[in-house]
This record gives sequence, structure tokens and C-alpha cells, in this order.
Amino acid sequence: MSTILAHLSDPHVLDLRGVPLHRLLLNKRLTGWINLRLKRGHKHRPAIVEAMMADLRALAPDHVAVTGDLTNLALEPEFEAARAMIERLGMHPSQVSVIPGNHDLYTEGARRSGRFGTFFEKYITSDLDLAVDLPGGRFPFVRLRGDLALIGLSSAVPRLPLVSSGHLGEAQRRALREALAHPEVAARVAVVLSHHPVVDPRGGLRPYLRGLEDIDDFRAALDHGRDVLALHGHWHVSGHEKIRASSGATIHRLGATSASLVHDGPGKMASYNVYEIDRASGLVRAHSRVWSAARERFEDAALPDGAGQTG
Ligand SMILES: [Fe+2]
Ligand SMILES: [Fe+2]
Repeated sequence: MSTILAHLSDPHVLDLRGVPLHRLLLNKRLTGWINLRLKRGHKHRPAIVEAMMADLRALAPDHVAVTGDLTNLALEPEFEAARAMIERLGMHPSQVSVIPGNHDLYTEGARRSGRFGTFFEKYITSDLDLAVDLPGGRFPFVRLRGDLALIGLSSAVPRLPLVSSGHLGEAQRRALREALAHPEVAARVAVVLSHHPVVDPRGGLRPYLRGLEDIDDFRAALDHGRDVLALHGHWHVSGHEKIRASSGATIHRLGATSASLVHDGPGKMASYNVYEIDRASGLVRAHSRVWSAARERFEDAALPDGAGQTG
């Protein structure tokens, strides 16, 4: 019996109801909001996320992983709406794992309030006590679920406007290495969740503006002698890239699109990924369920080859 894991990311729930105007105008959120509205005419549509929740209910996977950017501006009404979205999956909180993205810790205020950890407490519980205190909660969490050992990281840190880079930090990376070496994890297939991917976006300043600051150390930690699945969001592009680690094992980089974005670019239309994982064989199969704007439903599609993606 294999385990079915569904992976969605970056729904970017936008809900400004009841938010006083000064909270939008006096800080970074204004740039974020304008950026969101004008950016290349792209559209985030809440109705697609709702349709995705219905599609997932019909699929009934064993577990769902959400790799960050649940909100846009890290405001309470957005966290409420994002949590309600997850609750509509109708799954027990032990079957859903959530990590923060840069948008979930968008401002210093969001970081100080610990809002992410408060709203998603049920979805970041850990079976092993290895976590360190980070903005947004205690990470990494380790959730042992059948064939899977889900290890959730936080790479989210508040940044200046238009900068979305991330950072894991030494303490969290050390805990990640301990988690990967733990016998309960070693007996299963390790699935590491990080909002920022283990591969840098290509071109100019993009790694500095959008990437993970300690990416080399992150990759070294994942290179632990066994195959590992490294799920991420942030790029809003779906893809599966097999990275050969120095040990000869494979790091499967698995990216998911934004769950709400209507975009006809390759690998960008709203979708979620489905992985079939077996304790003995590792990742047996991967495909995606992609939104069809014409037929207004999700349909099976191959997960694009992510090698050479630009992020
Ligand atoms: Fe995002
Ligand atoms: Fe992001």
C-alpha cells in the first residue's frame, strides 16, 4: 500500500474586509497590494481555490501539504480565510501540514505577532521534539504519517518591498540534519517542505532578491545519503527536477504553482500535485491536476520536467 500526498501552494488569499486603511497605506503592504493588482495582468481567483478544495475532497489523499504564501499581506482576515479554506478540505488536522511563505510574514508586525503559528497551530504540530523557535512558530516539525516523514521548515522572514528572499538559519538547518538522521525518519520516505526551493532562480540579481540566502547549506543538509522529496512553492511554477546528490542519492525538487493564479504560461496555471509514495520504492509516481479555464474543472496532466527552470 502506497501513500498519496497532495501538494498545493501559494493560494495568496486576499481579504481586506475590516482592515483600516492606515494599515495598508503606512507600510510595505501598499507596494504589495499595487504589485499584486498590476503585476503583468495576472489574476489570483478565489473561486479556483474553492474548486481545488472540492477536487481534493473527491481525490481523498492520505495527506495534504501546503508550502506557504497562504496569505498576501499577512493580515488577520486573510489568515482567517486561509484557515477556513483548509478546513473545507474536511480532513483531520493531523492529515494537513502547512508551512509559511514570505507573504505570511510580510511585515515586522506580522513577525512580532506570531500570527502564522497562532492561526495554523493544528497544522504544524510535531511528533519529534527537534524544533527551534522562529518567527511564525516552531520549526522544523516532523510528522510521521504511514510511509512518510514530513519535515516542515520556515524560510520566511520580513524583507524590504520587492525583496522576497528567504533564510533558514543555522539552528534550523542543524535540526533538519538531526531529523533526517532520526531512526523514525530513516525508516520512512523523507518529505521536506520549504517555501523557497533548493535551486536558485536563474539570472542577474534574482537569487539575491528571491532565493534562499543559505541555499548551499540547505542542499548540503538534504544530501544525507538517501533519496528525499523537497517540496516548495514561491516560484508559482510546477515541475519535477531530479538532482543528483554527492552521495549518489536523488533530491526530488517538486514545485507547485500558485493555487489561485490564472496564467497560460507553461507550468503556471493553477494546479496541485499528487505524489504516490512507497516506503520501499520512494516516489513511485507524480502528476498534477491542472485547472482548465475552458471546462472550469481540474484535469490530470503530466508534471513538467523542472530541469532548467528559471524560477
Ligand atoms: Fe507566492
Ligand atoms: Fe513566496
